Amino acid sequence: MCGIVAAVTTGGNVIPDVLHGLRTLEYRGYDSAGIAAPAEDSLHLRRQVGKISALEQELANNALPDTPTAVAHTRWATHGPPATRNAHPHMDDEKKIVLVHNGIIENYAELRADLQERGHQFFSDTDTEVLVNLIAWHQKNGKEELHDAVRAALKEVHGAYAIVVLSAKTPDLLIVARMDSPLVVGLSEEGSFAASDMPALLHLTRDFLVLENGETAVLRPKNVELFNAEGVRIERTAIRCDWTPEQAEKGGYPHFMLKEIEEQPDVLARTAFDRCHDLTGDVHFEKEFGFTDATIQSIQRIRFMAMGTSLHSALLGQQMVAELSAVPGETLNASEFLYSPNLEEGQTLTVILSQSGETADSLRAMREVQKRGGQVLGICNVMGSTLAREADHLILTHCGPEVGVASTKAFFGQLTALYLLAIRFGRAREKLSKEQGQELIHDLRALRPKLDVLFSSEAAERIQKAADFLAQVSSCLFLGRGFHFPLALEGALKLKEISYIHAEGYPAGEMKHGPIALISEDFPVVAIATPGRTYEKMISNMEEVRARAGKVVAIGVAGDQRIANQADYFLAVPEVPELLSPLVNIIPLQQLAYQVALKLGRDIDQPRNLAKSVTVE
Ligand code: G6P
Repeated sequence: MCGIVAAVTTGGNVIPDVLHGLRTLEYRGYDSAGIAAPAEDSLHLRRQVGKISALEQELANNALPDTPTAVAHTRWATHGPPATRNAHPHMDDEKKIVLVHNGIIENYAELRADLQERGHQFFSDTDTEVLVNLIAWHQKNGKEELHDAVRAALKEVHGAYAIVVLSAKTPDLLIVARMDSPLVVGLSEEGSFAASDMPALLHLTRDFLVLENGETAVLRPKNVELFNAEGVRIERTAIRCDWTPEQAEKGGYPHFMLKEIEEQPDVLARTAFDRCHDLTGDVHFEKEFGFTDATIQSIQRIRFMAMGTSLHSALLGQQMVAELSAVPGETLNASEFLYSPNLEEGQTLTVILSQSGETADSLRAMREVQKRGGQVLGICNVMGSTLAREADHLILTHCGPEVGVASTKAFFGQLTALYLLAIRFGRAREKLSKEQGQELIHDLRALRPKLDVLFSSEAAERIQKAADFLAQVSSCLFLGRGFHFPLALEGALKLKEISYIHAEGYPAGEMKHGPIALISEDFPVVAIATPGRTYEKMISNMEEVRARAGKVVAIGVAGDQRIANQADYFLAVPEVPELLSPLVNIIPLQQLAYQVALKLGRDIDQPRNLAKSVTVE
């Protein structure tokens, strides 16, 4: 939801570096983009509707002067439609201060009316323009220092924000602040930087300060000063990010999504293998995990919560953990938790899954659990993110930065982490013997080479045929049972997100209670039918579909003639233990969605209306 990049450097022209960072953040918003730079006591602004390429074109036609300081933004519209006047950066009405913002200022209408009474003029529909005028007002009314003016303005504001402020008068100074929207500060010999996330700055530095809510920072080319909510100077040690700049680049692939699908075997190795102990048949997480056997034994119930794709991992996690450790659980959509009755938390552990660690609904649910006295285990891909910092316990998935809006490798990393969690809980609660733990770890290690076949040319041909067919329909159903029901949800989500074909995931047992009315020649079913406890029933469901002239795309293990006979399109996967089958079956579902979207010419990495990181509720 909007991406911010800003730099104040020791010299030279920083615009190419800032645009590079902005391109990395394009997944956060892509309806308009802009950049501002100071020059000779004034501010220069370039803004364009559309993607960053449109802004680059504008800069090619109408260049900015070379500058060591710049602030830039890519927007996901909240207040006002995509239009040049609504694109960031925004200036105050005297064009002395410029600001970029991610978040929502809830009381912007009242503030705007007040400022209008004081003579301020507005040229956009945004809440951001209100904030920059409020800062300008404070600067003229007793808070001459920009940092003081920003702090005074923020005291009047309710809502979420990450901001960077630049004044024409002080071109070698940036003020940044955050409240409930992500912001990191990057440090290097060449300058100081701010951005919505770390990948946007990896080409410049790997050393970061993460701002907490209410904090502000003053960035100068050679130093950064950090202040707490009371305005008192504080010290914080920088963290070093272990991601590489290459991980945040497409590296020759046509789309990030394809690159990220193909990275999944490596994600398995990075997330799991160092944590698996073959001798003890157990899993060792890092110290942030923070549970002992005794504390694991005391847990009576687990509540899993998340949004989007992470919610589908949560549903699978609940099943995996129950299977191996016999702890009962439930899964809730995080945005619904606030409306649940405030029952005693007791010995309930809450697991919150989030790729970004910044999803507003998931963070809100985490804080509500903590307020009710409960403990939260975060499973997250981004070190230094809000979930990673505020959760009581933490497991990081080591997927590397995920850029494609449709989540793929992060889902895979979460399933891997959940499998490990299930083993750890099973061992700590003595539901798994050492030998059983060893076998589960052995199965996981053996999975990696088995995944290769999913990336073979033969597999690609099968996917292509099924995709050519699905690209012609306007609606379809994904069916699965047990471990495969969450996959049906995820397969349907992937397809609708990037191809815009309507798709729903259902537990196959529910088909006869409604969706079957839709089955026809033009309304196909994607069935997940690999061996296990649900196998026979899935075959019956596929027969029922075919008896109504419905076409079936089936995922089954290679050589399974019974499934192949029921399928119009058969996607073969390698046979693995049932508990690991979701990590295999998800891959053809992702590939299918990708190929359908490609065939339809969709904008795969940045599908319409979606943002990768939804930082507003
Ligand atoms: C957005 C993204 C999804 C993602 C969801 C949750 O909707 O488009 O891909 O699954 O947010 O994100 P999180 O970062 O919390 O996993």
